[in-house]
Amino acid sequence: MRKFALAIASLATLALVGPANAADPIIIKFSHVVAPNTPKGLAAQKFAELADKYTDGKVKVEVYPNSQLYKDKEELEALQLGAVQMLAPSNSKFGPIGVKQFEVFDLPYILPDLNALRKVTDGPLGTKLLKLLDAKGMTGLAYWDNGFKEMSANKKLVAPEDYKGLKFRIQSSKVLEAQFRALGAVPQVMAFSEVYQALQTGVVDGQENTPSNMYTQKMHEVQKYTTVTNHGYIGYVVVVNKKFWDGLPADIRTQLEKAMKEATAYGNGQSAKENDDALEEMRKSGKTELIKLTPEQDAAMRKAMMPVYKDVASRVGQPLIDEFLKETGRGGM
Ligand code: LMR
Repeated sequence: MRKFALAIASLATLALVGPANAADPIIIKFSHVVAPNTPKGLAAQKFAELADKYTDGKVKVEVYPNSQLYKDKEELEALQLGAVQMLAPSNSKFGPIGVKQFEVFDLPYILPDLNALRKVTDGPLGTKLLKLLDAKGMTGLAYWDNGFKEMSANKKLVAPEDYKGLKFRIQSSKVLEAQFRALGAVPQVMAFSEVYQALQTGVVDGQENTPSNMYTQKMHEVQKYTTVTNHGYIGYVVVVNKKFWDGLPADIRTQLEKAMKEATAYGNGQSAKENDDALEEMRKSGKTELIKLTPEQDAAMRKAMMPVYKDVASRVGQPLIDEFLKETGRGGM
């Protein structure tokens, strides 16, 4: 796959210089790993429609969902090489390319709600984090929501002890690794497209994800129990190849920025409902039992995961963690 990506990339560098014929539309390949009917899938589709509208068809955004083009880590490499122009990877996926600061979003219970998240993403801290991407050959355009994660397994997960010895699929984030280690579980990094099968065949015992991701991948069909923990957050950074972006005519870029702003408002305005609906569908399917934690059980989970903050402080940066907590109004945590 890597070789394939590189071959495509060398062809694609040609595409970076723009259309062969002035009348040809500029193509933006937007690759992502989730289903079209998820918060990210819908926002990407909306952006494609608005980009077409605001540029009078001068820009065509081709959306490739479901890891059709690339899996997790490969897609970031493909963007850096110019094989695709746009992506929206989760915050967790920037660590492996050396921007580990985005893993701050993975800290357990760091966001009490989406309002707190907006304070970070819409404020100076959000802007500062996006700037870090420039050095990696990409421009950060927006923050898109998915939502809060739940835990699932074929075993009831109620107390921290229930996680002991179980293998959990994680995204490639050291914070998520530390989180499952704090629970005595065994974390295993795996591409999103491989999770369903790994759960089905028992390669891993459990996983964490948002209801919309779980439902659209049918994970709930192979996990007897889903605990509504809301212990962490999945969100995305929309990134574009910097050379491509800087090379666009200024008027086109302005129209695309407008389209992105509207697509972001649209997507973030409905992501919570999409996750609520997915959770309800999972419940109705009868294939997974939804478990709600009592306040005491919730407190025990929080306590068990608290050591993660210290474990990852040197990696993510204590000043960044403090700034994040201050922005979200939880400075004394
Ligand atoms: C995951 O790998 O679980 C998620 O990041 C997938 C996604 O893009 O929502």
